[in-house]
Amino acid sequence: MTVAPPSTPPSLFDRLTGRGHEPRPDHPVVVLHDVTMRYPNGKEALKDVDLVVPEGDFVFLVGPSGAGKSTIMKLLIRDELATRGVVIVDGDDLARIGRRAVPRVRRKIGIVFQDFKLLPRKTVWENVAFALEVTGTPRSRIRPAVDRVLALVGLTAQAPQYPAQLSGGEQQRTAIARALVHDPRIIIADEPTGNLDPVISWELIQLLLRINELGVTILMATHDAEVVTALRKRVVALEDGRVIRDETGAGYHRED
Ligand SMILES: Nc1ncnc2c1ncn2[C@@H]1O[C@H](COP(=O)(O)OP(=O)(O)O)[C@@H](O)[C@H]1O
Ligand SMILES: [Mg+2]
Repeated sequence: MTVAPPSTPPSLFDRLTGRGHEPRPDHPVVVLHDVTMRYPNGKEALKDVDLVVPEGDFVFLVGPSGAGKSTIMKLLIRDELATRGVVIVDGDDLARIGRRAVPRVRRKIGIVFQDFKLLPRKTVWENVAFALEVTGTPRSRIRPAVDRVLALVGLTAQAPQYPAQLSGGEQQRTAIARALVHDPRIIIADEPTGNLDPVISWELIQLLLRINELGVTILMATHDAEVVTALRKRVVALEDGRVIRDETGAGYHRED
């Protein structure tokens, strides 16, 4: 019997340049096991949550406002630590890694917010480059990385513009480029279409689907029932801090 050597998955840029990537569906990139999250004020935002996300999955996180969607995302980027239970991101137990390891683990996750959070005094190009500069990436590697992600999201022509000169959809695509530039294993998007009109929302979803096809796992919180129902992806429904439904190909009806 021969045993295959442990393989390092190809980077996003390998995948973009066509060197191929097989997602490893047997490799869970996110594991929440029996997670309870109680905020200092006593509020239990998550209760006994179990969630396993295999690499390459596209997961919609749905549920009414206050259900706990953003709290799950805060746990994944270790903004908060779970009160009880285990949170594992790409093999790292977030309660056990040392403080010095936090930036390394965070770079595995790209984050996209509803309100874009772009720096107004930096251009599109500089906003994306800044994400690499703050982690000390050498100049020579920043330029090609930024150019590639801007091409991927279709913003090459807008690179010298400032956020205020962009449409909402272009601003959100800039935020996606910024989230991708670290070559993350996972993109978490917290209601990324919340400030966009329906047509632009669809374009954004198409972009996320393409990124998912490149092997990046996507976890997206949304209120957009139409999008969720149309795409037939995995839907994890939260209510009052509990997972009340976890199924693939299901629809979603807003109840709030
Ligand atoms: N920092 C915090 N301190 C106390 N309670 C919080 C905090 N953040 C969120 N909550 C509460 O936790 C619950 C879940 O919030 P959240 O995860 O933001 O839900 P969602 O993203 O689904 O709207 C809500 O009741 C919210 O008020
Ligand atoms: Mg939220």
